[in-house]
Amino acid sequence: MKRINILPETTHIPVVNHKRRRLWMIFSIIVGISSLITIVIITKIILRKQKTTTTESTLISLFTITTTSAMTEFRRFKRNNETIYAIWNTTASGNSTPSLPGEEIGTYYPSEPPEAVFDGNLNTIYTNHGICSAHTIELSKLCGVNTGLYFTMNSKLFVLKRFYIAVRRHSLQRDPLTITIEGSNNKISDLAFGYSWTLIYNGDSGLMENQWEVSHYEEMEVNNSSPFRSYRFLVSSIREKSTSVSYAEFVMIGQYID
Ligand SMILES: *[C@@H]1O[C@H](CO)[C@@H](O)[C@H](O)[C@H]1NC(C)=O
Ligand SMILES: *[C@@H]1O[C@H](CO)[C@@H](O)[C@H](O)[C@H]1NC(C)=O
Ligand SMILES: *[C@@H]1O[C@H](CO)[C@@H](O)[C@H](O)[C@H]1NC(C)=O
Repeated sequence: MKRINILPETTHIPVVNHKRRRLWMIFSIIVGISSLITIVIITKIILRKQKTTTTESTLISLFTITTTSAMTEFRRFKRNNETIYAIWNTTASGNSTPSLPGEEIGTYYPSEPPEAVFDGNLNTIYTNHGICSAHTIELSKLCGVNTGLYFTMNSKLFVLKRFYIAVRRHSLQRDPLTITIEGSNNKISDLAFGYSWTLIYNGDSGLMENQWEVSHYEEMEVNNSSPFRSYRFLVSSIREKSTSVSYAEFVMIGQYID
């Protein structure tokens, strides 16, 4: 019985073995492929996790930095007795041309001087005619363009991070639309020269969208981490044809460095 049993088994063994071998091969291939797939998936998951963790930690540190500085260090520049130099015929990186009080080309209204932009008073404004004059008949979008101011802070260095420009409602055509801001640590006698200045902002004044709403001014970010003692502010375009550019406040927000 056993033999009979064994014999057919043995005769069948090669067949069974063959089948088993095939099955084993298929099994091995499946296991191999599965292992490969698993390894690839696991590696991907690990990489993704690492990426997520770095992004998360970056976000967290950014958030911490922002909240810490916003809560403890961001302050508004307040003018004490700093001299404010009015300028015209001046573009970023170029030399400054002094602007004097008057009504002719290259002047500002004596009653609307550059100091007005740092006095915290929305009713006092700085009006510069640039290449035009107070008596210009043909209004132009170039009047008041390439004018502005520069000054040196009394003591501490200041890192400009944000700013906003406030204007008076009755002269919206004279609003500055685009501006440049530059910083310098050169000595005061060098500040008339363009080489002294480093451009830190070039673009929207914050008044582009905000045409009619004057109770709120948009704060603009300045991508800057350099401390400067001197700043130069220039208007590069105005909203409508006019005789000049006018603005009430240039509010600088940032960090004082001792
Ligand atoms: C400006 O004020 C500072 C103190 O805040 C003083 O030391 C300096 O002499 C003043 N400068 C002028 C020109 O009045
Ligand atoms: C205007 O600026 C240019 C370049 O700095 C200078 O050559 C020119 O003399 C200036 N014009 C006036 C009227 O000051
Ligand atoms: C901010 O300034 C840094 C350094 O100059 C520069 O790498 C980065 O691209 C700037 N970011 C933006 C949003 O302009």
